[in-house]
Amino acid sequence: MRNHLIPVLTIDGPSGSGKGTIAQRMAQKLGWHYLDSGAIYRVLAVAAMKHHIDLADTAQLTTLASNLDLNFKFDDQGLKVLLEGENVTDTIRTEQMGNAASKVAAQPAVRSALLERQRDFKQAPGLVTDGRDMGTVVFEEAPYKVFLTANSTARAERRYKQLKEKGIESILADLTREISERDERDSQRSVAPLCAAEDALVLDSTALTIEEVYTQVLALVS
Ligand code: C5P
Repeated sequence: MRNHLIPVLTIDGPSGSGKGTIAQRMAQKLGWHYLDSGAIYRVLAVAAMKHHIDLADTAQLTTLASNLDLNFKFDDQGLKVLLEGENVTDTIRTEQMGNAASKVAAQPAVRSALLERQRDFKQAPGLVTDGRDMGTVVFEEAPYKVFLTANSTARAERRYKQLKEKGIESILADLTREISERDERDSQRSVAPLCAAEDALVLDSTALTIEEVYTQVLALVS
C-alpha cells in the first residue's frame, strides 16, 4: 500500500487520560500497528541516565536520540520495551521517568531527531498511535484524530491505580503534583505543545467509562 493511503488513528492527550488503553484496544480491534510515542521519550530518558548524560545537554541527547537502540516487542503480556537489548518495560513507567521524559521532550532538536523513527511506524494495514503531538505534528495528515482528556483529579487517580496494578507504589498527592507539573511543561513548550488538532474529536473522559470512550472512538473509524 502506498504510504499516503495507509490509515492512521492518532490519540493524543495528557497523562492519565486513558489514551494508552484506548489506543492499544483500537489497534487490536482493527489489526493495525501500534506506536506508544511516549515510550520513546521515556526510553531516551533512561538511556541518558544510563550513559550519564545530563537531561539538559541538548547536543548529547540529540546524538543519543539519533542512535537510540530501541525495540518494541509484543507478547501475550502486551508491549515489551527493549533498550540496547535490555528489558526496560517497567523501568520506564515510573512517574520519575515520565517527568524526565517530559524534560528531554521539551527540546526541539531532540524531537526532530525522533521524528522519522516515529513516522516509520506507519505501515500497512494501518497505525494507531498515542502521544501528545501525533495529530498535530507527526501524523498531521491522519484521517482519524482523537484528543482525549479528563480533569486532573481523575487522571491522577487513574495513574495511581495503574501504577499499583503494576506493583509500583506511589503517593496520590505526589502523583497529582507531578502530573500537573508535567502537563504544564508539555503544554507550554515551544515545539509541539500538548494541544488538540483542529480536526480532532475531543473527548472528555472524566465521567465516561473506558467502554464508553472505546465505543465513541470505534464509531469514528468505522
Ligand atoms: O505518554 P507518556 O506519559 O508516556 O509520555 C511521557 C512524556 O513524553 C510526556 O509527558 C511528554 O513530555 C513526552 N511526549 C511527547 N510527545 C509525545 C509523547 C510523549 O512530548 N508524542
